[in-house]
Amino acid sequence: PVHQKEYLVNGEIKIWSGPVQDIFSPVCVQTANGPEQKLLGSTPLLTETEATDALNAAIGAYKNGTGEWPTMSVEGRIRAMEKFVKAMKSKRTEVVKTLMWEIGKNIKDSEKEFDRTVEYILDTIEAYKKLDRTSSNFQFEQGIIGKIRRSPLGVVLCMGPYNYPLNETFTTLIPALIMGNTVIFKPAKIGVLLHRPLLEAFRDSFPKGVINVVFGRGRATVGPLMTTGKIDVLAFIGTSKSANIMKMQHPRPNRLRSVLALEAKNPAIVLNHADLDLAVKECALGSLSYNGQRCTALKIIFVQKNVVDTFINKFLKEVEGLKWGMPWENGAQITPLPEPEKPGLLKELIEDAEVHGAKVINAGGGTIEHTFYAPAVVYPVNNKMKLYYEEQFGPVVPIVAYDKIEEVIQYMVESNYGQQASIFGTDNDEMATLIDNLVNQVCRLNINSQCQRGPDVYPFTGRKDSGEGTLSVSDALRTFSIRSMVAAKEIDVNKE
Ligand code: G3H
Repeated sequence: PVHQKEYLVNGEIKIWSGPVQDIFSPVCVQTANGPEQKLLGSTPLLTETEATDALNAAIGAYKNGTGEWPTMSVEGRIRAMEKFVKAMKSKRTEVVKTLMWEIGKNIKDSEKEFDRTVEYILDTIEAYKKLDRTSSNFQFEQGIIGKIRRSPLGVVLCMGPYNYPLNETFTTLIPALIMGNTVIFKPAKIGVLLHRPLLEAFRDSFPKGVINVVFGRGRATVGPLMTTGKIDVLAFIGTSKSANIMKMQHPRPNRLRSVLALEAKNPAIVLNHADLDLAVKECALGSLSYNGQRCTALKIIFVQKNVVDTFINKFLKEVEGLKWGMPWENGAQITPLPEPEKPGLLKELIEDAEVHGAKVINAGGGTIEHTFYAPAVVYPVNNKMKLYYEEQFGPVVPIVAYDKIEEVIQYMVESNYGQQASIFGTDNDEMATLIDNLVNQVCRLNINSQCQRGPDVYPFTGRKDSGEGTLSVSDALRTFSIRSMVAAKEIDVNKE
């Protein structure tokens, strides 16, 4: 087990001697008492004092925008980021292994998460080199040259989710840093140990106080920081309930900028002219890969009535064929669930659907074996059920039979969420009209394919309760900075 005691504040790796939180793997191992979740180690439960030290360090390094980091040259920040990514790469084996054990993600996807994060950082460096550098000089009055710069926003509190603890967290952390902000990073309560190997890399690559990493309960660490009013940007990926609480804790909400990626209820729409084999494959993977624990997972499937029986027959076979296994087994899609409370929440949703006339239609769906949860396909789902509206974030697939496409359009218009949708069909004219209707409801429409965030250079955002601010490589650089202009007469403002 890794009994982590270290955290990073003001360029120093400190050793914690107070209370810790045990971290158990979702993977069960055989013990004398039968299968038990493996103890992976522990992580510090820091308090308000350590969190405040981290805040003060970040404020000190930012120095109201006059610190070494926010005023550093482009080349200087790039050098720091390159140093970090090099050190990070040397930790690949350790981080990937911890990802598998800690969050139950299969080996291929754990490796992909690491590799796409490295690629993301390299792409960010390239985008930063080009940012507003070629077209931003203009003459707006006789003899006066305006030069646009992107300036940092201040102190950023960064928190990522358990399901993509490295990749999604870094899609806010990296752009925040490279744009000259200073950061306090607190990992989620699941997916925490994998950050331990990166502490030295952070410490050795950035000036002291620029990046501070604290561990512990949100209530003890994050709450007190928000109430100081000294957090300039809240970068949070998780539930809208937590985001609301944190935003409301800030005493000057108008000063707080938020970059949020929250819930989604991404629908798949299967039209009666769809290639059903393709739709079934994409819908099964889209709703159930990594047990449906992706914000971009398909969380409800609308199928046109005259093809719904055929779709369901094929879909159940596909779900049955999904590979179960431990995270290190190649191709395992159904792996142990890392959230202990998830099976109970899914049960509640299914029971509510049953009360309103739906049932689990696949044999064994919804059964629990230790930390494995058998995917459940629920049909016929309708608008009286919680499963119709609420995000399940797990291996339960609601299917709705629809008659007229207007019903689905109405669903999306009324939904609290607006992240992505998938449309399956072959009639180009009908698809084109539908695309025109639906593109304004979400931020990405996927035609004949499942929803997904990647590649990470694509803009990633959400309407309504699904998010605020855009993440991607170039968009995120803008999200974590502000446009400032230097207007000058007879001074060569091109030299930065
Ligand atoms: O939880 C949401 C993740 O951003 C999903 O990312 O679509 O690339 O798997 P992905």
